[in-house]
Amino acid sequence: MKEQKILNPFSRREFVKLFMGGMAYSIYTLNKLNAAVYQSITSLNQKYIEDESPDGVYWDAISKHFLFKDGLIMMNNGTVGPMPKPVFNTLMKYFKIQVTNPFDVYNYFPIKREEVRIKLAKFINASPDEVVITRNTTEGINFIANGLDLKEGDEVLISNMEHPAGIHPWRLKEKRFGIKIKRVPLGLPPKSVDEIVNAFKKAITPKTKIISISHTVYISGLIAPLKELSELAHKNGILLLADSAHGLGMLNIDVKELGVDFFASSPYKWLGAPTGCGLLYIRKEVQDRIWPTIASSGWDTRRGARKFETLGQRSDPIIFALGEAIDFQNIIGKGRIERRIKTLAGYLKKELSKIPGVKIHTPLDPYISGGLTAFSVKGLEPEKIVNYLREKYNIVIRTIGRKEDGTYGVRVSTHIYISFKHIDLLLEGIRHLVSHRA
Ligand SMILES: Cc1ncc(COP(=O)(O)O)c(C=O)c1O
Repeated sequence: MKEQKILNPFSRREFVKLFMGGMAYSIYTLNKLNAAVYQSITSLNQKYIEDESPDGVYWDAISKHFLFKDGLIMMNNGTVGPMPKPVFNTLMKYFKIQVTNPFDVYNYFPIKREEVRIKLAKFINASPDEVVITRNTTEGINFIANGLDLKEGDEVLISNMEHPAGIHPWRLKEKRFGIKIKRVPLGLPPKSVDEIVNAFKKAITPKTKIISISHTVYISGLIAPLKELSELAHKNGILLLADSAHGLGMLNIDVKELGVDFFASSPYKWLGAPTGCGLLYIRKEVQDRIWPTIASSGWDTRRGARKFETLGQRSDPIIFALGEAIDFQNIIGKGRIERRIKTLAGYLKKELSKIPGVKIHTPLDPYISGGLTAFSVKGLEPEKIVNYLREKYNIVIRTIGRKEDGTYGVRVSTHIYISFKHIDLLLEGIRHLVSHRA
């Protein structure tokens, strides 16, 4: 396999300059900077009530609130996404507070953490008693897999498209306790909601205890129909865990509407939070079925989901920055963000489907797809596509999938700071490569 080139978007010197620049601002200035961003978005919202200003002014203005190096076209949120400026400012602000007075902050940091929990709960339509602030999706899935009492022979249904973080927690349990993992095959792409639901329905047996499935499938960009799968699971007395690593910040998440029992996400991908914080939702009614994995004072006394959070000392500035990331999305509007992302992805898929040799691995139906679009091109190595787009246009995308099962290709993220012009550049690059295929 040809090696994929990794370009360094920030030299160490540049990063230190940026980081120290943030740290050098006073707390007063950082607050003022954030207020100015929110003021500007509020004015935009008043001016452009519709989602799209005809000339793209609304989203162009929003894109200015991100901190990209000049010319970088970031189309790989799936791995690690960028922070908007207010989030970075908040991170700097609380690091500054922490470094200048490390001890006293412990009087109020825990209170502020609760504020973030409340914001996060509201953001996904849950109760604060159902929200665990984890480090990431991997941790969230492990908390459930490890904490659920299963015995030898009990079955867990996963799909054939799971991320390692959705497989290995169950593998560990398989090895330790003799549970059975059953893989349900999904089409590439599946043709309909019914096709997906029926595949799971067929695999259920009296021994099935939980369906553990990606909400946002990292290989194909499929958005699993969680509502329908939760209904299926509950009708059969089965639990449902959703690995929604990419969902928060990409989709307008309402966990009650989705009906899931567990929902794990990584807000540093699409929500604009820094790495190091994650979300795990545990539905109130099933909390007593899960043992905490990490125990310190409080695991047996705390109210609701907080008993899963006796994790020792945390990086609180990261958690407060997560709160800021929610504020940033709320001021734009979760629904508006999802619509924009899906509009961009829809355009990308429509244009890709006109290019000879392109196979789109993501469903076209916006109900079961979102901001991740995966595809392959006959006769073109995915690495070649990735490297060409980076060198020619400074577009960042990634290779994804496995050669052995036909999922190997490239994956493109279309977040709100991406414009139709960026997508046109990407398409121009693909067309060029196709017409110059050996
Ligand atoms: C579908 C899916 N699940 C889980 C993960 C793991 O996420 P994290 O490393 O934040 O735990 C990823 C990472 O990309 C993913 O795409």
